[in-house]
Amino acid sequence: MKLEDKDTIQLELSNVSFNYNQQGQSIKIFEDINLKCTAGNIITIMGPSGSGKTTLLHLLALIYKPSTGQIMLNGQEIDFEDIEKIDTLRKTYFGIHTQEILLFEKIGIVENLMIDFEIHSDLPEKEKLDREYLIELIYSLNLNHLLSRKVNELSMGEKQRLSIIRSLISKPKLLILDEPTASLDYDNVLSLIKILNKLRMNKDQITIIFTHDPLFLRYSHQSYRISNYKLNKIEN
Ligand SMILES: Nc1ncnc2c1ncn2[C@@H]1O[C@H](COP(=O)(O)OP(=O)(O)O)[C@@H](O)[C@H]1O
Ligand SMILES: [Mg+2]
Repeated sequence: MKLEDKDTIQLELSNVSFNYNQQGQSIKIFEDINLKCTAGNIITIMGPSGSGKTTLLHLLALIYKPSTGQIMLNGQEIDFEDIEKIDTLRKTYFGIHTQEILLFEKIGIVENLMIDFEIHSDLPEKEKLDREYLIELIYSLNLNHLLSRKVNELSMGEKQRLSIIRSLISKPKLLILDEPTASLDYDNVLSLIKILNKLRMNKDQITIIFTHDPLFLRYSHQSYRISNYKLNKIEN
């Protein structure tokens, strides 16, 4: 089976445990968790600070290898030794907004987005840049009046919105957002919800949101809370 031929997408954690090794000591974060993310779903994962949200993001984004258990993409187990393949999978499928925002500081908003798109554009599976969508995103997250600025002239919240747009523009099949509303004001939170609501119509995409904000629960198909090293389902 060639993974890239699939129209649909499924990402699954199967009996995954994860420990950090810190100076010879093992720190348990997850124990035997299962999660099935299927196309067309928005999945919200909540948990207090330090509970493991960003760690789980790193697992789902194939950055961390589980200590035990498997991660499956479209039914195929990820081989964490095959770095090249993982790199291709990540470029092909994933759009990620992380808490640590890495942008090119000395250039502008559009240039930053273009560089990111270029990185992905060598992949035949990727569609061409949808300029209308890009403009729509820039307007809906209120960055349109800042297009002449360099990134180092933007506020934290503006950088965060830029990072969110960057995760969205290539229309990834797997969109993962780590605390996307951390420094957004109410209007921008509503704009983000509107964008995510549109994505709900997109039946071949998975959205995973790590957040403190219970607002997202209303818009989710599956919700979980991290506690005691487990993922506990939240009944909506
Ligand atoms: N590289 C690391 N080495 C050891 N412990 C870590 C490392 N990264 C995070 N942790 C610890 O793992 C726990 C979960 O962290 P994290 O996933 O960042 O939580 P959250 O995103 O929910 O705030 C925390 O107690 C944190 O201190
Ligand atoms: Mg975090």
